[in-house]
Amino acid sequence: MSSKLVAPSILSADFANLEREIKAVAQAGADWIHVDVMDGHFVPNITIGIPVVKSLKKVSPLPLDVHLMIDDPEKYAEQFIKAGADYLTIHVESTKDPAAVLKSIRSFGAKAGITLRPRTSVDKVLSLLPLCDLVLVMTVEPGFGGQSFMHDQVAKIATLRREISNKNLNCLIEVDGGINAETAQICHEADVFVAGSYVFGQDYSKAISALKEAKLPSSK
Ligand code: DX5
Ligand code: ZN
Repeated sequence: MSSKLVAPSILSADFANLEREIKAVAQAGADWIHVDVMDGHFVPNITIGIPVVKSLKKVSPLPLDVHLMIDDPEKYAEQFIKAGADYLTIHVESTKDPAAVLKSIRSFGAKAGITLRPRTSVDKVLSLLPLCDLVLVMTVEPGFGGQSFMHDQVAKIATLRREISNKNLNCLIEVDGGINAETAQICHEADVFVAGSYVFGQDYSKAISALKEAKLPSSK
């Protein structure tokens, strides 16, 4: 399998120097920039919104992978895409009609992603995969960086991989939450690793290279 994509989450970056941080992870080999948008309703935390995405777009050499943790994403999808989101991922629990929102994301010219909370069954997203370019498996409860990886979520990756290959779909599997060199190996069937505290907490090149090399543990 080809090398993994790495999307550093700027939630763990220095917010006073986002341009510098984005350029540094790009230089260190990152593939995408993961942007966590939280509204204080869907999740208890509040982070950044549309104007910040617009500013990041001006300075980022890499695609913006925007993870919406907000209620009613249909109200804001177009604005996030106009601001510069290349990938826009919504939570299946956040809207009454996820299929309609995914279609509208594509119609506005972005790549569409679906994700789910750890407590949500993977069955809830399977029928949506043909509408998606990306499916994101959360391995922590959404809301905060720096939490511990939830091993009980890993089985979802295998189910999604099977569904994508059985139906011959063109959908990347991304994993987000508690990802480091060890947990990335456990998630070796994913295509894209999001990592916040692991990347921004050490030498960026070393961290990104370690994630890119994640593959099947030799014991298997
Ligand atoms: C959590 C966010 C993650 C978070 C990951 O709600 O979706 O993207 O930044 O942070 P780490 O890698 O520190 O678990
Ligand atoms: Zn995220």
